[in-house]
Amino acid sequence: MIIKTLSENTSVSEGFKSEHGLSLYIETEKHKLLFDLGASALFAENACKLDVDLAEVDLAVISHGHYDHGGGLRAFLHLNDKAKIFLNRKAFVRHYSNRPGGEKAYIGLDAGLIQNDRFIFTGDRFVIDDELELFSNVKGMRFYPSGNRDLLMELGTSLQPDDFAHEQNLVIREDGKIVLAAGCAHRGIVNIIDHMVNTRSCLPHHVIGGFHLHNSPAGRHEEPALIRQIGEHLKSTGAKYYTCHCTGIEPFKMLKEIMGDHIQYLATGSQLTI
Ligand SMILES: [Fe+2]
Ligand SMILES: [Fe+2]
Repeated sequence: MIIKTLSENTSVSEGFKSEHGLSLYIETEKHKLLFDLGASALFAENACKLDVDLAEVDLAVISHGHYDHGGGLRAFLHLNDKAKIFLNRKAFVRHYSNRPGGEKAYIGLDAGLIQNDRFIFTGDRFVIDDELELFSNVKGMRFYPSGNRDLLMELGTSLQPDDFAHEQNLVIREDGKIVLAAGCAHRGIVNIIDHMVNTRSCLPHHVIGGFHLHNSPAGRHEEPALIRQIGEHLKSTGAKYYTCHCTGIEPFKMLKEIMGDHIQYLATGSQLTI
């Protein structure tokens, strides 16, 4: 399996622009897929530099209804005329973020796209085929990210704390390997892994994605003691972790101290074979 980072918050070199967002190209035995589309069309610019032909992508997954993961949707629909796009049925609920000063910034998807017939709306569990499966509705509260407190969803005429029912995670099975991909892990990466263990009795061998340990609008990250606890727990699973985006650089360094070779960073422009 080949994984190329098309966009995230940092880059491997000046040859690749970066942005606050996430987009991964994943090539398996059966599929050429995109997991998230970043905040803009930057994923497409970097795809060219990484020899990824976007017209050949056969499916895309949007992990949740935030602009930094689905902001490239319009560009992707233009560049690719065949891939189905899998989103949770709640992904187009309007989402907002509290900003300093009390402003509520819209951080949801482009509502003008909702009628597109290439979307496939998923629920708690959605099997795509024998290689790919999506799951949502993670309930655990262990090490729950504090940055979620500033995130809101529209319910009727009011804004409520986001419950992240719109967040889905991808499981890839290939050659006996189980790979878990999470976008922002708003429900908490530990809870997402727990959910896999509780519902499928299996641990992933590899975990990819953002772990939401850094709250960008507020410019702060989780307490170091909590990050170290998370690191100890993740290391104890025996899996390999590849992270970026909302994990944040400082929290990554703290995790790296604990986890050593069990974790590495996936900057824009990086290529990984697992
Ligand atoms: Fe998010
Ligand atoms: Fe994000």
